[in-house]
Amino acid sequence: MPVVTLHKFGQSFQDEVKPNTNLVVRAGIKQFPYPNLQYECGMGKCAKCAIRVLDGAEHLPPPNWKEKKQLGDRLNEGYRLACQLWIEHDIELQQD
Ligand code: FES
Repeated sequence: MPVVTLHKFGQSFQDEVKPNTNLVVRAGIKQFPYPNLQYECGMGKCAKCAIRVLDGAEHLPPPNWKEKKQLGDRLNEGYRLACQLWIEHDIELQQD
């Protein structure tokens, strides 16, 4: 099972999730990383869920067109849209 580590508010939150998990969907049903993940639309339109991948980015698919549109140059700094990611492997994330 993938282990997700989220750094936020100067704290670290960690839990196991099922493979093929979307963190925004989970937060929407009040499961980890709720209430520590910031998001809004869940559809790649607002960029509120922007998150920096500290470790495990190599397991993610390339950014989709919504991430490219919303994040632009931030993609080069390791940012992704959490609502567009389905987690299959361990990953470490930081949200500003
Ligand atoms: S929640 Fe709006 S872009 Fe991800």
